[in-house]
Amino acid sequence: MALRLGDTAPNFTAETTHGTLDFYEYLGDSWGIFFSHPGDYTPVCTTELGTAAKLKADFDKRNVKMIALSVDGIDSHHGWVRDINETQSTEVNYPIVADEDKKISILYDMIHPNASENVTVRSVFIIGPDKKIKLTLTYPASTGRNFQELLRVIDSLQLTANYSVATPADWKHGEDVVITPAVKNEDIPAKFPKGHKEIKPYLRTTPQPNL
Ligand code: BEZ
Repeated sequence: MALRLGDTAPNFTAETTHGTLDFYEYLGDSWGIFFSHPGDYTPVCTTELGTAAKLKADFDKRNVKMIALSVDGIDSHHGWVRDINETQSTEVNYPIVADEDKKISILYDMIHPNASENVTVRSVFIIGPDKKIKLTLTYPASTGRNFQELLRVIDSLQLTANYSVATPADWKHGEDVVITPAVKNEDIPAKFPKGHKEIKPYLRTTPQPNL
């Protein structure tokens, strides 16, 4: 069954390019981003893994542990990592799960048989420190993901986990946010001392509260 928002991310033990790891132990109390790749030595995946490696400091800053998966074996992964480092001018600095028997891909519903019987689609799971799934995203094999968008979403998830706000369309870190409908007008000054604008009774904005 597909994993949905709010579900507990299943734990697993797996062979990875950083050795055998227990997923929950690897995540510890951090946030996590778990993303799948259709296969080793494929062009789009090569660029995605290189891009993700270059952004590791940005994920670290947000306390997010990165982990990737591809349905090939560990020897193949190690060879591919050398190619990624060479062609993308980086060092892959997070583990890649070797999921040759597809156990973890199936556990996370990363194989969509009507797209392909054999390989995973491009799934992304963002997992909170409580091990609950906060975001899922699915792209086809033919479309590489936007890792800046994933950082932007993490900024929103982490902000809205701590304040009674939501982030509007195309919001970026530093921009005004929306006050959630559950907050009563009379409670706004105490909760949002930076002020607010009421555009409509249901559309109230305030400066990003955690800056
Ligand atoms: C790729 O990563 O380049 C790719 C993988 C499977 C199908 C198409 C592209």
